[in-house]
Amino acid sequence: MGQFDGKVVYITGIARGQGRNHAVRFAREGASIVGLDIAGPIIDHATYPPATREDLDETIRLVEEAGGKIIARQGDTRDLAFQQQLVADAVEQFGRLDHVIANAGVLTWGSVWELSEEQFGDVVDINLVGSWKTLKATVPAMLEAGNGGSITIISSVAGLKPMPFQASYSASKAGLIGLAQSAAKELGQHRIRVNSVHPYAVNTPMGVADTEAHRLFGIPWVGPHFASMLDYHPVASLDEISDAVLYLASDSAKGITGAEFQIDMGHSKV
Ligand SMILES: NC(=O)c1ccc[n+]([C@@H]2O[C@H](COP(=O)([O-])OP(=O)(O)OC[C@H]3O[C@@H](n4cnc5c(N)ncnc54)[C@H](O)[C@@H]3O)[C@@H](O)[C@H]2O)c1
Repeated sequence: MGQFDGKVVYITGIARGQGRNHAVRFAREGASIVGLDIAGPIIDHATYPPATREDLDETIRLVEEAGGKIIARQGDTRDLAFQQQLVADAVEQFGRLDHVIANAGVLTWGSVWELSEEQFGDVVDINLVGSWKTLKATVPAMLEAGNGGSITIISSVAGLKPMPFQASYSASKAGLIGLAQSAAKELGQHRIRVNSVHPYAVNTPMGVADTEAHRLFGIPWVGPHFASMLDYHPVASLDEISDAVLYLASDSAKGITGAEFQIDMGHSKV
């Protein structure tokens, strides 16, 4: 028997990285998965490689191998109508929607005054506005089902402790705290809990394959801003983040809402 038998989980950004791992972990626990990913180039100012259609197909294969059913589509969280159609089709097929993981996000680098309009606007539009569209598309179906549930929004430690050269990213991730906490207050009465998760570095292409990050960390005054308390553990594994995400969706976390859940090696307090 799985911890999420019969439940339906909606996850954005599932082609690879954290989103894929959450999908596989929920599927192993008996959940059906609904997901989307652009699965292609997103922003022309990215300094790490984009996900591909093959990545998305691999997620589908892994979820099915784990025994889960999955509806996965190539699409953009910024497209509200696309997300609403995906939710409608998922509810028709699976009959309910229980948990939402707003995970899709992008990162770009530059000083406040040198960021281009695209570097600021794209990142806020994807990380913050796109996540709001995920909630706007999914919450009505959760209310309609009347089963309660949970929403977990993947922010970043940068949402708690903004970093140099990450103004657009930090602003978008701080904004997600506002989104999560407003939603938590509105949805508590419907037995829907809403929390944000704040990782430090995670072992994904965004976390470890960003050429601009490696260049900037080499500048002497920049490095100390990114210090943590656990030097021996600089990068979290995918399962460390999934452990937290599954916990927050589980009944064990029934008293947790409006929380900022840190997996940040103490970085936000340094
Ligand atoms: N990797 C890290 O070090 C780290 C640290 C803190 C927070 N985060 C956050 O964790 C989340 C997951 O990132 P990851 O580390 O797995 O990165 P990743 O780049 O490996 O995966 C992100 C996935 O989201 C997809 N995506 C991005 N924008 C999208 C959009 N508008 N619509 C649909 N799909 C979209 C991408 O195609 C990609 O498959 C992000 O919100 C990120 O900001 C990551």
